[in-house]
Amino acid sequence: MSYTFVCFCLWLLDGVSGVYSDETVISVMEGDSITLNTDVTELQKDDQILWTFRLNSSETRIAEIYKQIVSIYDNKENNERFRGRLKIDEQTGSLTITNINKLHSGLYKLQIINGGVKHKSFSLAVYALLTVPVISDFLQNPSVSERSSEQNCSLLCSAVNVSAVTLSWYKGNSLLSSISVSDLSISLSLPLELECLDDSYSCVVAYSFINRTTHLNTTDLCQTCPDGQSESVKHLMIAVITLLLLLLVISASAVMMFNRRRRKQSAQETRTTVEEVDYTDAIITTNRAQDSETNGQNQTEYSEVSFR
Ligand SMILES: *[C@@H]1O[C@H](CO)[C@@H](O)[C@H](O)[C@H]1NC(C)=O
Ligand SMILES: *[C@@H]1O[C@H](CO)[C@@H](O)[C@H](O)[C@H]1NC(C)=O
Ligand SMILES: *[C@@H]1O[C@H](CO)[C@@H](O)[C@H](O)[C@H]1NC(C)=O
Ligand SMILES: *[C@@H]1O[C@H](CO)[C@@H](O)[C@H](O)[C@H]1NC(C)=O
Ligand SMILES: *[C@@H]1O[C@H](CO)[C@@H](O)[C@H](O)[C@H]1NC(C)=O
Repeated sequence: MSYTFVCFCLWLLDGVSGVYSDETVISVMEGDSITLNTDVTELQKDDQILWTFRLNSSETRIAEIYKQIVSIYDNKENNERFRGRLKIDEQTGSLTITNINKLHSGLYKLQIINGGVKHKSFSLAVYALLTVPVISDFLQNPSVSERSSEQNCSLLCSAVNVSAVTLSWYKGNSLLSSISVSDLSISLSLPLELECLDDSYSCVVAYSFINRTTHLNTTDLCQTCPDGQSESVKHLMIAVITLLLLLLVISASAVMMFNRRRRKQSAQETRTTVEEVDYTDAIITTNRAQDSETNGQNQTEYSEVSFR
């Protein structure tokens, strides 16, 4: 009971303020179709579904299921915009609008009456058809064959008559540059300068919910990069050099290990000799120290060091 009461309050509130609780915003493009879901899995015999459309302050009933009878109101005077475009699912009550145009922007409200009353609303925003961007030669340069190989190509990506879009240049998946417009409908252009072309460049025009892409063809407008093949040659050379270095390291360590083993074998024989040499060194140091210390101070200390 209390649930019904709360919903009723919200329903009233909506009528006053124009703000609806639980409103789903849906963006679509002209020509698209959209299904507004009731989230009912299966309507019961006595369930009632009511769809209304509101634009400005006028609200009209557009579809209904009542006592299992489906009614579509698309031929009333102010529902002309929906003629032949509405379909309601008898099982779920979900409403499908096909071949959408700008006139279908607005608020769609749903009432589900099945013991209680449930409300949902969908705010439909219809965007102009998005056509693929056009890539053209910015400077109207001479054709590729007449162009000197040093010359860059200057490209321009354009989208005509657009609003609320972002226009971007991509190389592979990384963004090179982009430009955005808000609401007003204008023509957008974004330049790109290239020394040469491989086939990974693309221009994307995008709404927040959908985009259109034009890939830059290798054959038109720009010289193909001469190092398209040498790139793989470069990779091959790096691989070969790495392999050589690896071999070098392996053989070097093999030599070192061999030497170490030999040294170990002869270590015992030479140990005594090494000790003698060390001892001799120490004596030499002592002598030198004694030579340089003409003042004759701290001589005992040096001696101590030398015989350690
Ligand atoms: C809704 O209001 C706008 C201006 O606020 C007006 O241009 C438009 O014609 C109105 N639409 C309807 C169906 O009354
Ligand atoms: C741009 O859009 C307006 C209306 O939105 C239309 O009248 C005009 O023909 C369009 N121009 C182009 C070049 O598509
Ligand atoms: C060609 O384009 C590159 C950047 O892609 C730029 O650094 C270079 O200065 C340009 N060269 C000429 C001659 O415009
Ligand atoms: C374009 O749309 C697809 C999905 O439709 C998305 O995966 C991709 O990231 C979008 N690209 C851009 C640049 O927005
Ligand atoms: C790209 O080039 C191919 C052939 O080289 C051509 O069939 C295709 O139409 C071109 N696409 C564009 C967008 O220019």
